[in-house]
Amino acid sequence: MSTTTTRPGQDPIRVRPGLTGEIDNLTALLDEAFRQDPVSRWMFANVSREGHDWAAHAAMLRVFTDWAVYCGHAQVAVSVPSGTPAADVEDQAHAVALWVPAGPSFPHSVPPRERQRPDFTNLQGWPRLKFDQFAELSRTAHPMQVDHQYLPFVAVAPPWQGHGVGTRLLRHRLDQLDAERVPAYLEASNPDSARLYKRLGFRPIGEIRLPAGPPLTPMWRDPTGFPVIRVPAAPAAAP
Ligand SMILES: CC(C)(COP(=O)(O)OP(=O)(O)OC[C@H]1O[C@@H](n2cnc3c(N)ncnc32)[C@H](O)[C@@H]1OP(=O)(O)O)[C@@H](O)C(=O)NCCC(=O)NCCS
Repeated sequence: MSTTTTRPGQDPIRVRPGLTGEIDNLTALLDEAFRQDPVSRWMFANVSREGHDWAAHAAMLRVFTDWAVYCGHAQVAVSVPSGTPAADVEDQAHAVALWVPAGPSFPHSVPPRERQRPDFTNLQGWPRLKFDQFAELSRTAHPMQVDHQYLPFVAVAPPWQGHGVGTRLLRHRLDQLDAERVPAYLEASNPDSARLYKRLGFRPIGEIRLPAGPPLTPMWRDPTGFPVIRVPAAPAAAP
């Protein structure tokens, strides 16, 4: 089922579930959008030479995309230029939000091993080491006392960024979660996105310190009004 959301001065967006057949496209969208992200740049930096291992970056993102689509909670936004007849609208994703269930009933902070593809499980060297460090710190910081929805990744294709698409895509899911009284959790990987999440009602509950890397801000959003769950800052893992 898809829903169209409009705000004055903006093209409407249509929100629909992410589909198995578009995992390649959604992975490519995330890969492009996250190449400027501090955590991606830390995790996939080539240590012995310049640049980044973007193939490994895409392999990691594909695992998360596959996981969210498999769970049935990935949501995609399609921008619909005003005045375009519905039949002429291309259904290609302009943004994607990877939501997955987490908590006592779903005890995973990263995709379970059976959902990981060989190009990711066979990853070696620094990206493997750093991903594993990230996964452990992320697992430690992640409140798991109550079932909730976890947003490991959200991205808007670069040409559409800054036009309200990300806000409306997230708002769409958060309205559903509010109606169901389900909390939400994420880790903001940069101060710009943290500002957006605060406006949407997320509150910081700690800090994740990556070894010789950028900080991440774990954020929790609870529509029931229960006090925010605070987690202690996790110590940085040994480099
Ligand atoms: C973060 C992101 C999903 C927001 O979607 P968007 O459609 O660009 O954002 P909106 O137009 O709805 O809202 C604007 C707000 O988003 C945030 N934002 C905008 N561009 C951003 C960018 N390149 N990176 C991170 N956050 C950004 C800011 O908070 C901005 O508000 P501001 O006016 O206070 O600066 C999108 O910019 C993106 O994909 N960024 C790159 C990937 C990323 O950082 N993902 C989140 C990691 S936790």
